[in-house]
Amino acid sequence: MTITSSRPQVQNLQTSLIRKLANQAMGREGVIPLWFGEPDVPTPEFIRQTAKTAIDEGQTFYQPNLGIEPLRTAIATYMNGLYQTRFDIDNIVVSVSGMSALSLAMQCVVAEGDSVIVPSPVWPNLPSVAKILGANIISIPLRPVNGRWTLDIDQLFDSVQDNTRAMLINSPNNPTGWMLTDDEQQTILDFCRERDIWLIADEVYSRIVYDRKFAPTFANKITDDDKVIIINSFSKSWAMTGWRLGWLTVPNSLISTLETLVEFNFSCIFAPIQLAGIAALQGGEDFIQISMKRYQVARDRIIEEFAGLPRVTLPEPEAAFYAFFAVDGIDDSFAFAEKILLEVGVGLAPGIAFGSDGEGYLRLCYATDINTLDKALTAMRPLLM
Ligand SMILES: Cc1ncc(COP(=O)(O)O)c(C=O)c1O
Repeated sequence: MTITSSRPQVQNLQTSLIRKLANQAMGREGVIPLWFGEPDVPTPEFIRQTAKTAIDEGQTFYQPNLGIEPLRTAIATYMNGLYQTRFDIDNIVVSVSGMSALSLAMQCVVAEGDSVIVPSPVWPNLPSVAKILGANIISIPLRPVNGRWTLDIDQLFDSVQDNTRAMLINSPNNPTGWMLTDDEQQTILDFCRERDIWLIADEVYSRIVYDRKFAPTFANKITDDDKVIIINSFSKSWAMTGWRLGWLTVPNSLISTLETLVEFNFSCIFAPIQLAGIAALQGGEDFIQISMKRYQVARDRIIEEFAGLPRVTLPEPEAAFYAFFAVDGIDDSFAFAEKILLEVGVGLAPGIAFGSDGEGYLRLCYATDINTLDKALTAMRPLLM
């Protein structure tokens, strides 16, 4: 029996093209998987140990909706130390992942019939949440100009309509590695203030950035009166993808709404995971630095490799750990990713998975060891020449 009575917004959702491709590799030996966006190493031992201890102590009970206070305090302290800001516990909501933080943020502000503006290509889950809520998505294309991804800010502003409720901006961006400058952020913030538009800033890659400690952030530009929600996650910076832990930074006035909303989403988060989050925030700086050195080496290796392949264009990733590259003559990225998978055993994400602005591109996650990366680049070379 086919059930067709679910909401059209839900029925029309596209299944993840990355997963669709990855499913084809099931059971195949020797595939080098560079399609998913996660570090190849397990979570650092000291973080795992914290959770184990908490389990052994029997910390298995329900917890507060907004997250345990020590974690909310640790997050505020971490952000204030990093960004020279003055958030307090009533600006912080802990969530089961960055994904659910996005979901909560949009449940707070987006309603059926609203329009939501999203620079793209972008991780498809961002616009999908707004679509589930019945919003209409307006995509603003990021474009490579002189070897760098750029956003046309005038085009962004011109796309605002009477029913525009929010801008959803992922900077640093997955898949391109593009990021807004501080000046651009200030301009966008001023515009949103003037037009009374919400800004949902997905900053989960804020620490995965080259030659600086953190990416430009809205955190150090906003006041508590701003309609800005910042999304963050433990997944990427501390190699905690499987734990499902993230947070939202919100205006104080939204905190009680979120407390209620969390109750009806996931209610609360396992205490050992939250304690692991505190360990990550307080002891994880070395891990971030070591990871960034690895990513830098991998990024430089890819830039060098692709510079020698005239058909390949790679706008330089300024942040995150993805190479989002175009291959001359390729206009069906899914078919081409499939060919690379089946012929040389390398798993890449097709650009079309990140919206129509990503067609013609492929995404390679280089958060992997350099030998594996070398093997993948060598295997792909004949198909990219
Ligand atoms: C741009 C972006 N935002 C949010 C997330 C969510 O991360 P998580 O749900 O693992 O915290 C991801 C994960 O790939 C991402 O790429």
